[in-house]
This record gives sequence, C-alpha cells and structure tokens, in this order.
Amino acid sequence: MWNIDHSYMLVTAFVLLTSCKHAILHEIKEWKECHFTSSCLCKNVPGSEHLIADCSDKDLLRIASFPNNIQELSLRNNDISTIEDGIFKGNSLLTTLDLSFNRISQIRKNSFKGLTNLLSLNLSNNDLKYENRSFEYSAFYFLENLKNLNLKRNVYTSFVPDLWKLQSLESLSIDYVADKIAIFDEKFGYLKNLKIIDLFGFTGNCKLTILTEKTFLFLPKITHLNLSKCKIQHIFQGTFKLMRNILELDVSLNTCLRFETLENITTDLQHSAIEILKVNYIHGILEKTTVLKTSHIWNLQNTSIVRLEAVGNRIQTIESGAIKYLPESFKSVDIRKNMFSVGKYLLDLTNMSIASLEMADNTSPLNVITSYVEECPIKEKTITINSENNWLFTKLPILELLKNTSGKFVFPMPRNLINVSLRSNNLKLELPNLSFSANEIENIDLSDNVLHTWTGPITDTFRSIGLILPTDVDGEIFQNLRNVVYINLSKNKITNIPNLLFQKQRNLERLDLSVNMIEDINFKLSHMKKLTFLNLRNNRISTLSKDAINELDSIAKTNTNLTIDLGENNLVCNCDSESFVKWIINTPTILHRREEYECKTSQNTISLLRNPREVFKTIQKECMSYEGLIIALTTGILMFIFILCGGIVYRYRWKLRYLYYMVKVKWHDPEPKSDNKDDRLYMYDAFVSYANEDDTFVHHKLLNNLEKTGGIQLCLHRRNFLPGNDIATNITSAIHNSRKTIVIMSSNYLSSYWCMFEYNMAKMESIYERNCENILFLVFYEQISACDLPLKILELVHCQSYIEYPNDEYGDVVFWEQLQKAIKSF
Ligand SMILES: *[C@@H]1O[C@H](CO)[C@@H](O)[C@H](O)[C@H]1NC(C)=O
Ligand SMILES: *[C@@H]1O[C@H](CO)[C@@H](O)[C@H](O)[C@H]1NC(C)=O
Ligand SMILES: *[C@@H]1O[C@H](CO)[C@@H](O)[C@H](O)[C@H]1NC(C)=O
Ligand SMILES: *[C@@H]1O[C@H](CO)[C@@H](O)[C@H](O)[C@H]1NC(C)=O
Ligand SMILES: *[C@@H]1O[C@H](CO)[C@@H](O)[C@H](O)[C@H]1NC(C)=O
Ligand SMILES: *[C@@H]1O[C@H](CO)[C@@H](O)[C@H](O)[C@H]1NC(C)=O
Ligand SMILES: *[C@@H]1O[C@H](CO)[C@@H](O)[C@H](O)[C@H]1NC(C)=O
Ligand SMILES: *[C@@H]1O[C@H](CO)[C@@H](O)[C@H](O)[C@H]1NC(C)=O
Ligand SMILES: *[C@@H]1O[C@H](CO)[C@@H](O)[C@H](O)[C@H]1NC(C)=O
Ligand SMILES: *[C@@H]1O[C@H](CO)[C@@H](O)[C@H](O)[C@H]1NC(C)=O
Ligand SMILES: *[C@@H]1O[C@H](CO)[C@@H](O)[C@H](O)[C@H]1NC(C)=O
Repeated sequence: MWNIDHSYMLVTAFVLLTSCKHAILHEIKEWKECHFTSSCLCKNVPGSEHLIADCSDKDLLRIASFPNNIQELSLRNNDISTIEDGIFKGNSLLTTLDLSFNRISQIRKNSFKGLTNLLSLNLSNNDLKYENRSFEYSAFYFLENLKNLNLKRNVYTSFVPDLWKLQSLESLSIDYVADKIAIFDEKFGYLKNLKIIDLFGFTGNCKLTILTEKTFLFLPKITHLNLSKCKIQHIFQGTFKLMRNILELDVSLNTCLRFETLENITTDLQHSAIEILKVNYIHGILEKTTVLKTSHIWNLQNTSIVRLEAVGNRIQTIESGAIKYLPESFKSVDIRKNMFSVGKYLLDLTNMSIASLEMADNTSPLNVITSYVEECPIKEKTITINSENNWLFTKLPILELLKNTSGKFVFPMPRNLINVSLRSNNLKLELPNLSFSANEIENIDLSDNVLHTWTGPITDTFRSIGLILPTDVDGEIFQNLRNVVYINLSKNKITNIPNLLFQKQRNLERLDLSVNMIEDINFKLSHMKKLTFLNLRNNRISTLSKDAINELDSIAKTNTNLTIDLGENNLVCNCDSESFVKWIINTPTILHRREEYECKTSQNTISLLRNPREVFKTIQKECMSYEGLIIALTTGILMFIFILCGGIVYRYRWKLRYLYYMVKVKWHDPEPKSDNKDDRLYMYDAFVSYANEDDTFVHHKLLNNLEKTGGIQLCLHRRNFLPGNDIATNITSAIHNSRKTIVIMSSNYLSSYWCMFEYNMAKMESIYERNCENILFLVFYEQISACDLPLKILELVHCQSYIEYPNDEYGDVVFWEQLQKAIKSF
C-alpha cells in the first residue's frame, strides 16, 4: 500500500518537474542570449529575421555596436554616460531605442547618425540638464522619422532643445519648469505633426505656474494635452482657444487652480473637438466647498464632449438647471470624492443621457486628505454665495420635490444610465420610501453606505440603508432596476433582506451582499436564473434554512455557474445544520474557497469545512446519539407514566371494576329512586359467596338452615343468576340487590378467582353504596391459619364479625342460630 502511494507521488513529482522544465525551456527559447554579446537577451520579431534585444539592467558603461538586423533595443537602466558618434550608423532598421535610466549628459549631432527609421526614442531619467552643453545644435538631426520622444526627468528649467528636424514627431514627453508664464515658443512651430504633449508632473519635472493665450500659441494641432500635476496656479481665458483639435485635456492635480477656473477652460473649448475633459483635484482640499455652476459647463453645450472627470473637487451641489447644458454626446461622468448633498439638481438627473455615473466616496473631506496636497499662494477670496445657492443651507423641503404623485420618494436616475457607483456615499438624504426612477441600469454599486446613508438634514431621525431595506416588503426600492446585472450592497449594515427586494431583477448576474449582518437567505432569488456570483462573505449566517437551500437549488438546476461565497460567517456544524452540511456536500453550486470556511461544532471547536463529508459523518454520529438519548428519555418517561397509571389502576382496580359493573347493572335495570338508602327494598336478604367445591354445604345445610328454617331469602349463583348476563355483571348485580353478603371462607374460596372477585365487589359495595356499613359476613367453613389469609381478609377478620363452622352436632345447632340472628340483626 505504502509503496504504491510512494511511487504514485514520485510519478507526480516527475511529471510536475518535467512540465516545469518545459515551461522554462520554452521561456528560454523565447528570449535567448544574443549571438553578438553575452550581456543581452535576444528574440526574433515574429515572422522575420529581425531581432529584439534587451540589454537592460546590465551595468553597461558604453554602447557596443549592434548588428544591423536589430529592430528594437533596450539599454534601459545601465551606466551609459556617452553615446559615441556614429555608434548606431549601421542600425537603419532600428525603430525603438530605450536609453532611459542612464547617465547620458550630452547628445551630439552624430549621436543618432544612421537611425533614419527610428520611431521611438526614450531618453528619460538621464543627465541632460546642462541646457546648451547637453544638446548640441541639431541634436536630433538624423531622426527625421521619429514619432515618439521622451525627454522627461532631465532638466529643471524651461529649456527645450532644438526640435526643428523632428518633422514626424507626434508625441512628445518633456520637462518644463517655469516660475512665471509658461511659453512653448516658436521651436514647436516646426513640429507640424505633433499631437500629443505629455507634461505629467509625476513622471517628469513640471511647473507651469501661469498659462495664458501665449502658452500654446505654436501648438494649435494638439489633440492630447496632459498638464496633470504641473503646479499650475492660473489658467487665463484664451489658453486653449486655438486648440480646435483637442480631444483630451487633462489639467488634474493642480489644486491651486481652484474649481472656478473650470469656466476659463470650458470657455476656450467651446468650439473645439473636446471629448474627454479631466479636471480632477483642481481645488484645494482645505478650500471651501464648491458649486458646479451653469457658467462652468454652459460653454460645453455645442461640443461633443463624452466624458467629464471632476474627482475630488469638494463639489457640494450643482446649480439647478446646469446639467441641461451638457450635450447629447455626454455619456459618462466621474465625480467621485466630492461632497454632494441633496439638492434640486437631482431633478435634472432624469433628463441626462449619461450611461455611466461614478459618484462614489462622497464621504467626509477627511477621507480625501490623503491625496495630493500642494502649497498655494494666497489668492484673494472671492467666494460669494448667491441667492440661487442659498437654498442649499436652508431647510427647504427638497424631499417633497422627489415625491411622486403617490407619495413615494423616487430617486431620479438618468434614463440611459447603465453603470452607477454610489459607493461610500453619505448623501444626506432621508428617503424611507425610496425607489429609483425608470432606468436602464445594469451595474449598481451601493456598497459601503454604512451609516447615515439616505439620511436627511430635515428631520432628526435618520435611517441607514440597513434599516430601510427590511421594511421594503413589496420590493419597490429596486423595482425600476430591471436590467441590472450587478448590484453591490456590501458594507451596508443590512440585517435582513426583504423577501421581495430583488423580485424584478431577473437578469442579475452578480450580487454582492458581503460585510453586512444578514443571518439567512430569506429573500427570493430562484428567479435569478443568470446569477453567477452571490457574495455573502462576512455576514452572520449560521446555517441556511430549507427555504434558502431550495431557492439556491432551483437556480442550480438550470445554472451550474452559480458561485456562492459564505466565508467569514458564523457557520455551525451541529444537529440543527445537518441538512445544510449535507447540502454543502451535494450541491452543484460552487462554494467559493470552501476550504477556508470555519464552522462551530457543538464542542465549540472550529472545524474547517475542508472535508465536509467527514464533518457530516461526525454530525450524523452526534445526532444519532442525540436521537438515542431522546428515545431513551421519552421511553423512560412513557414507562414511568405507564407504571404510574398501572399503579393507580391496580390500586383502584376493584373500585374501577365495581364502578364499571355498577354502571352496567344500573343500565340494565335502573332501580327506583329512594331518598333514604336504608329504606331500600332488597331483592334478597343475603348473597352467598362461595367456592364451587363447597356447594354441597351451601346447597344443603346452608339453604336448609337459613332459607327454609330461618326464612332468609338467599341469593345463590347457581340458582338465582340470570342466564345470558355475563358473570361479573351478575355478581355485581346480586351483591347490590342483597342486603348482606355471606362469605363461605375456605381454602377453596381463597384460591378461586370469582370468589375473590365477589369478596372485593362486596367490599366496594359497602364503601360506595352503603355508607361504609358492613355488609360482609364471614363464615369460616374450614380452619384456616391466619398466615394463609390475605391481609385484606385478615383485616376484616380482626374488626368485623365472623363465625366459624364447628362441624359437630351440638355446635351445629348453635351455629345456625347465631348465623340467623346475625344476619337478621345486621
Ligand atoms: C520611457 O521610459 C520610461 C521609463 O522607463 C517609461 O515609463 C516610458 O513609458 C518610456 N516612454 C516611451 C515613449 O517609451
Ligand atoms: C543657449 O544657446 C542659445 C543660442 O545658441 C543662446 O541664445 C542661449 O543664451 C544659450 N543658453 C545658455 C543657458 O547658455
Ligand atoms: C496624463 O497622465 C496621467 C498619468 O499617466 C494619465 O492618467 C492621464 O490619462 C493622462 N492624460 C492624458 C490626457 O493623456
Ligand atoms: C479667467 O481668465 C481671466 C482672464 O481671461 C482671469 O482674469 C481670471 O482670473 C481667470 N479665472 C481664474 C479663476 O483663474
Ligand atoms: C450653441 O449653438 C446655439 C445654436 O447654434 C447658439 O444659440 C448658442 O449660443 C451656442 N452656445 C455656445 C456656448 O456657443
Ligand atoms: C425633461 O425633458 C422633458 C422633455 O425633453 C421636459 O418636458 C421636462 O420638463 C424635463 N424635465 C426636467 C426636470 O428638466
Ligand atoms: C459598464 O461597466 C462594464 C463593466 O464594469 C463595462 O464593461 C462597460 O463598458 C460599462 N459601460 C459604460 C457605458 O460605461
Ligand atoms: C410612484 O413611485 C412608486 C415607486 O417607484 C411607483 O410604484 C408608483 O407607480 C409611482 N406613482 C406614480 C403616480 O408615478
Ligand atoms: C411611506 O409610504 C407609505 C405608503 O406608501 C406611507 O404610509 C408612509 O407614511 C411613508 N413613509 C414616509 C416616511 O413618508
Ligand atoms: C462591492 O463593494 C465593495 C466595497 O466597496 C468592494 O470591496 C467589492 O469588491 C465590490 N464587489 C464587487 C463584486 O465588485
Ligand atoms: C456557464 O459558464 C460558461 C463559461 O463561463 C458559459 O459558456 C455558459 O453559458 C454558462 N452557463 C450559464 C447557464 O450561464
């Protein structure tokens, strides 16, 4: 057995090793040592003899000469300080040359001689900072086909080398540091094809300070301009006015600009081709909150702008009606990390044609503080809050505006909206009867709206979404989100999802309910046939109910792609969750990272659900002993009750039997009612109870002496019992209808069942019908020792009258006389 396992492992290891080796070999095959030098790796350009050489990170001090079939060459991150004249003269096939991260301090006219087909040159992060000394006149003389040039992280001034030969240049990345007005001078006028300028201050040195209409005077054909993080303080009107072709403008991360500058920017863009405008973080985080005014966007109405990014600008509201000026082409907006509060502008949202709204992280400014901070010169404060915006701070019932005619609060959603993120918002809004206006939303992220979400400044009561949702019995909140494929309600303190909350979401594919306080899936989801991911991580689920399991199974029937994440819950593995654990084993549903699930067993130990079958077996065993205990306990209790009843029945057996037969007797012949029991007329004077063995004595001697001689009417079972009636009823009836009962006591009597029956019935009769008057009279026909007498009879013997049959001539006479007297005197 061991050997088989062992060899199996060896085989596996071998297979693994060889497949690894294959992968490595494959990789090596791809990149192999260049035939011309050992310090570079080479590979072929697919489908040609040309080579791509990678000589990066090799501490090279100088550039060797490369064979002429090199097409791409990287010398990135070496210690190269000079480029020998003509070193590339044979490399007319070279298209891409990366010399970034070296110590090159000078570019001479002949440095790039021969690189007539070079398209892309990267000289970023070198030592080219000595202005005229670093760049010889016509440094780029031979690069007439160059399209992309990167010179970033070299100079710390506004110096720009001669670029006039770069007639083909399309994209330029440079440093530019100017403490006053930045001016890209006539040198740029030669760059007839330049379209993209990247001045991004994070990858290079950028300080533009002031932009005026002179700044880009020679760059009217630019389509992409990245002025991000360039320490801009002023953008005067006219700066971008000539850039009619501009498609994408990025002035983000210039926090000293202040949001109001947006007006100068859009004014310049009104006749341009602008499509994407990025004005993220153009307002200091310590400045006052801002308002997106009509004047800021009014000028965009005739453009075909598609996307606006205005992240982190402390925007608190939008002027009512402003949104209307955004053109039809406008499709997506990113206004994350602002400070939006409720306002009339919400009403304009429905008429917007946007498809994507990113409005996440509208939390306190403290959350934004970690972002880029720069010191700004103090500008005169010109913040005025005009009357139009005053309603912001008054308690105008804005919520009333959001109510539709039937009194429901309907959150206005742009009609064509497809993606919306309202993550981490503390929109100060109380919308208890919330729903969304008609829309096309496919992806909605409402996550992390922990507290105070949907709370209003108007009333003091506040509800978190966690409190509203459970009251949404009819599923109205999401009723208009019919196309939605993704809902994220993570981190909302939701305790309970109302049964019908998602009833309209037939197309839902991903539902994230993680980090809430949900205890079970008690909402309908079997209709979500396309559901692929249900995230319930980090909730309070201990086990899934039968209903929940049925819901999930009903999806699994048609959709085997469903994945559920139940991690970080309080799962329990005990008898209560037996069916749940069984489901875990059998379900076709994929349980995401099941092996990490922890569950609490009855011993409080955390057991990993890595092997659910084992867990299930343990539970089964446990439950079985549990069942055994229950069975034992119930049987015990039943037995006890049974014995108790038995005891009681036994204790009162005679009474019960007596009562039973009395009822039967009275049923047969009800006796006339008599007030006084003593005056009752008895059918017989005495009932004689005797054993069959003693019948000679009874039928001869007793009958003769008592009935014939003494005139006492006797009842003998042989003679007086009614045939047809059952014997017990006869006996009871006879005892009841006789004044006395004479017991002919003998050993036969004691061993006869019916005799003892008669005896006991007579006793009962005396207790229950005759007010405890003694009706029993014992005649000891035989000598019986006290030891042989049952206790009950002995008791009677001691306190009651009895007489012994003497069995001699003289005594006989006395006996009968005494007996007659005794019966009559009773
Ligand atoms: C130039 O090199 C830098 C640093 O390696 C890199 O970030 C950049 O993308 C490269 N640019 C071009 C145009 O190749
Ligand atoms: C660089 O050269 C130009 C023209 O050759 C000259 O006008 C300029 O003053 C020089 N700059 C420096 C810093 O030497
Ligand atoms: C400017 O650069 C930043 C950082 O690389 C980038 O995120 C942004 O998209 C760029 N903007 C443009 C217009 O290329
Ligand atoms: C907008 O441009 C005008 C001049 O064209 C200037 O006076 C004003 O200060 C600029 N606005 C901002 C906010 O920089
Ligand atoms: C946009 O075009 C309309 C009609 O052509 C014109 O009335 C309006 O003034 C223009 N708006 C701007 C900001 O240029
Ligand atoms: C939305 O547009 C329609 C017609 O285009 C107009 O009647 C309605 O008043 C607009 N609603 C808002 C809130 O502007
Ligand atoms: C919506 O989001 C999805 C996935 O996140 C993306 O593929 C799609 O392009 C987005 N649509 C719009 C209109 O932004
Ligand atoms: C009001 O909104 C609710 C929820 O969206 C909707 O069920 C109801 O039909 C709306 N009433 C009117 C009159 O539009
Ligand atoms: C929510 O709507 C119901 C009727 O649809 C109404 O009775 C209730 O008062 C509303 N709640 C609030 C806070 O307006
Ligand atoms: C839902 O939102 C949370 C918190 O914002 C995030 O961590 C999670 O990745 C989101 N879920 C999905 C499926 O995107
Ligand atoms: C399950 O996923 C596979 C591949 O991801 C896909 O081809 C198949 O259509 C999916 N099935 C359902 C029912 O969504």
